[in-house]
Amino acid sequence: MNNFNQQISRRNTSSAKWDLIDDDVLPFSIADNDYATSEAIVKALVERAKHPIYGYTFPDDDYFKSTINWTKRRYGYDIVKDNIIAATGVVISLFHAIKFLNKDIDGVIVQTPVYNPFYMVIRDNNLNIIENPLIRINNHYEIDFALLASQIDRKKILLLCNPQNPTGRVHTYEELKRIVELAKKHNVFILSDEVHCDIMLDDSKFTSLNMFTHIYNKIIVFNSVSKSFGLAGLKTSNIIIRDLKIASEFREYLQGQHFSCGNLFGLTALKAAYNESEAWLESQNKYLANNYAIIKEYFNKNYPAVGVTDQSATYLAWLDFSFLKMPCAKMQDELLKLGVMVNDGKRYGENCNGFIRLNFACPEVQLRQGLKIIGTFIDKHK
Ligand SMILES: Cc1ncc(COP(=O)(O)O)c(C=O)c1O
Repeated sequence: MNNFNQQISRRNTSSAKWDLIDDDVLPFSIADNDYATSEAIVKALVERAKHPIYGYTFPDDDYFKSTINWTKRRYGYDIVKDNIIAATGVVISLFHAIKFLNKDIDGVIVQTPVYNPFYMVIRDNNLNIIENPLIRINNHYEIDFALLASQIDRKKILLLCNPQNPTGRVHTYEELKRIVELAKKHNVFILSDEVHCDIMLDDSKFTSLNMFTHIYNKIIVFNSVSKSFGLAGLKTSNIIIRDLKIASEFREYLQGQHFSCGNLFGLTALKAAYNESEAWLESQNKYLANNYAIIKEYFNKNYPAVGVTDQSATYLAWLDFSFLKMPCAKMQDELLKLGVMVNDGKRYGENCNGFIRLNFACPEVQLRQGLKIIGTFIDKHK
């Protein structure tokens, strides 16, 4: 049975979210979830753990078949084993993809605000970060195509985050098609981080960039079971490249970098996730949609000056507190003093002073507790 309401203590489990803060602080920060994963995944891991030898491993045929079937069923496109590169995480894969493509390149275009490691993987490849800011209109974001068209040229790479962290925006089919056409015109590679694509909160349709490879082949997609099924600690993800020549060249490059696949338990968990946990995922999404509705209602009713961003995906709320006229770092500190840890908006973009990111993948009681503390914070400073 799925019980997203069950509060399970994560203290003293080496949790990066819970064990690096004081005991009296509730974290709504790092993007992992605070409820149990599916029973099927737990069962598969326990079964595997019972075999007392944990030696070297590899992604077997069942791993690839599970990924191929999930990709077809959920995202609607066909792949074969050679289109998939098993990896230990999305961020390290992005770093290497940029490194692999970094010949006669001078910069990487990103739509901001964006997940902060995007800035790091570009910087660590000694490339310029070219910001294509999303335009905030009321409480939602739009793509600035005119600016994008002026920024893109053959020396760029385009790094997309779809669904978008932290805004929760899902790019439409038409928007992605426009982006692909622009990239094609300038012969630019597009890297698409789709790690949040299974966590949909409404009827919006997620479209993978891999749906456009019939128009243009220079597309690399990054996906993972980490967010969808609460498996971030198992360090297992996939790189999906439909162009077999590019896939083969990138695989060869990665081998030269001693890049490895996910670990034994990650590989086991992915199969149980993709083959046996779809119903769990749907229940989780309903639960998360309700948590998001609670956040919206709480602020609209009690503190309408807070801008709750309209989001269709992810369990990360992007909240505009700029009416308080308080720098992000101070907001984060003040909230911490009151007992709530959030992520300060500035880490996602220079123009995000006044924003906070709130992870709502937790039991409802915990969320309500956090909202109450945030309310106290607003009362104190408004
Ligand atoms: C957009 C995005 N990409 C990648 C990651 C992290 O992926 P991984 O842990 O596989 O490196 C996150 C985690 O929050 C994320 O939000």
